[in-house]
Amino acid sequence: MTKTLSPETMAIVKLTAPALQQHGVAITTRMYERLFVDPEIKALFDQAAQASGEQPKRLAGAILAFAQNVDKLHVLEPALARISARHVATKIKPEHYPAVANALLPAIKDVLGDAATDDVLQAWGEAYWFLADILVGHEKTMYDEADQSPQDILCT
Ligand code: HEM
Repeated sequence: MTKTLSPETMAIVKLTAPALQQHGVAITTRMYERLFVDPEIKALFDQAAQASGEQPKRLAGAILAFAQNVDKLHVLEPALARISARHVATKIKPEHYPAVANALLPAIKDVLGDAATDDVLQAWGEAYWFLADILVGHEKTMYDEADQSPQDILCT
């Protein structure tokens, strides 16, 4: 991990956990509505998992787990490794991450309304990029390993 979140940001993120528990799926469903306005981003996703509601549930679960464990992130390592593996399988790259930030933060505001104060949105903006940096780091290692794998040569 390259940097840490400030104690203030961690405290705000942790305080939002109950709201995320209650409204997480509404937030991620709204987030995907905003995200899929871009057809190139939409094409990265399996639309069957969207239609069944599975993908919004998985993302809401990941965000809630992050909020609950922001002060002990090592417990999330296995889950983060799994997410990164899925991202590498679906060819997610660092340049895709801003689109999710730009969809997620307004979606939090859309759903939580006045409860999403400027401080809450600021804290979640920092938390998103902190989490994104961890995932991008894992994904870079996985892409690099795949590039060096002798398997690649055998398969081509
Ligand atoms: C901090 C940011 C992110 C988090 C916390 C996150 C979380 C997740 C989770 C929990 C899954 C499900 C993993 C599983 O199947 O067990 C997933 C899958 C996926 N994510 Fe992300 N993600 C993030 C960023 C992104 C970005 C930036 C993109 C691309 C725009 C993206 C695209 C995908 C895709 C395409 C899948 C596979 C979904 C499918 O099966 O169709 N994610 N992500």
